[in-house]
Amino acid sequence: MNSLKNDRLLRALLRQPVDRTPIWIMRQAGRYLPEYRATRAKAGNFMGLCTNPELACEVTMQPLERFPLDAAILFSDILTIPDAMGLGLYFAEGEGPRFERPVQDAKAIKALGVPDPEDSLGYVMDAVRLIRRELDGRVPLIGFSGSPWTLATYMVEGGSSKDFALLKGMLFNDPATLHHLLGVLAESVTSYLNAQIAAGAQAVMVFDTWGGSLSPENYREFSLQYMQRIVDGVTREADGRKVPVVLFTKGGSQWLETMADTGCDALGLDWTINIGEARQRVGSRVALQGNMDPAVLYASPERVREEARRVLASFGHGEGHVFNLGHGIHPKINPEHVAALVETVHADSQQYHA
Ligand code: CP3
Repeated sequence: MNSLKNDRLLRALLRQPVDRTPIWIMRQAGRYLPEYRATRAKAGNFMGLCTNPELACEVTMQPLERFPLDAAILFSDILTIPDAMGLGLYFAEGEGPRFERPVQDAKAIKALGVPDPEDSLGYVMDAVRLIRRELDGRVPLIGFSGSPWTLATYMVEGGSSKDFALLKGMLFNDPATLHHLLGVLAESVTSYLNAQIAAGAQAVMVFDTWGGSLSPENYREFSLQYMQRIVDGVTREADGRKVPVVLFTKGGSQWLETMADTGCDALGLDWTINIGEARQRVGSRVALQGNMDPAVLYASPERVREEARRVLASFGHGEGHVFNLGHGIHPKINPEHVAALVETVHADSQQYHA
């Protein structure tokens, strides 16, 4: 295996010294890049892009050609697992993800099995292997999955939802069935992430986009408990290096301490908390990834630079910060503003690393 030329991301996620704060951007390969839109058009649609390893590799590399980012993230989607379980994922133009066969009762849920990642998700593993070859050690590759709770929202509702009416109905009326679903998903996610690591992913992140919709008690019982199983089951070392695990619950900043208790290496933060305050609360237990409001990128490059400096200063001196946005980059952002962001984080952060 080739050695890494830039290992800032892995070092920062493990709270080891770095020369400057690493940065990557959630959804860094996406519609704000004209070259992404061109490749996507070539693929026909979004799933066509995900299921074609050559094209998935091509779009993964695109943001790295433009900006000196410190990590690549596998181009795929969190909904590949339910698709592999047979739910029939499709993207209705301009409407987000949909399932042809949502699972809404005990019978459908009991029939679900754990997908074999090298079989029905083999296209993802092929993309990971191809991207690692293409990266040739330039920067590390991040693998990812959705959290069981977040995957369940799409699988039960049949697509995106504002209130999670069906899923929360199940949570209160038939918790045993929901626990069964979450258990199968935790097992599926663990084996999926382990296959990504075996194929070459060097860090992994669990996206719990909808955990923040739960009460504190229900967050622990229906989301965190299952992310704990994943943290416990994920391979933590590959090729003689630690594989950091990052947990991100959007809207979860009130629960950072219990999230850190899982034994994960780092927490992703959305922009609703001050990162310096978050650092004080979790102490030296985990690294922090985040957390500029993605909407800042609508402002002028000068304002973007100012806000980036504010986040860096708020984290302050010392180790354990990976710069990112608090959620995915919006499709209408001007790529030149992203260039200003990356440049500022690299230049301005040196003063915080002795
Ligand atoms: O970060 C990256 O660059 C890696 C790629 C990535 C995508 N989806 C590509 C994508 C990652 C990490 C995801 C995760 C994902 N997918 C999440 C969790 C993170 C989050 O954003 O909260 C969720 C909830 C999904 C489900 C999903 N996929 C939705 C709701 C949508 C529609 C969103 C939209 O803006 O239209 C997608 C589609 C999707 N996944 C796109 C991309 C680049 C846009 C599809 C397109 O090209 O039209």
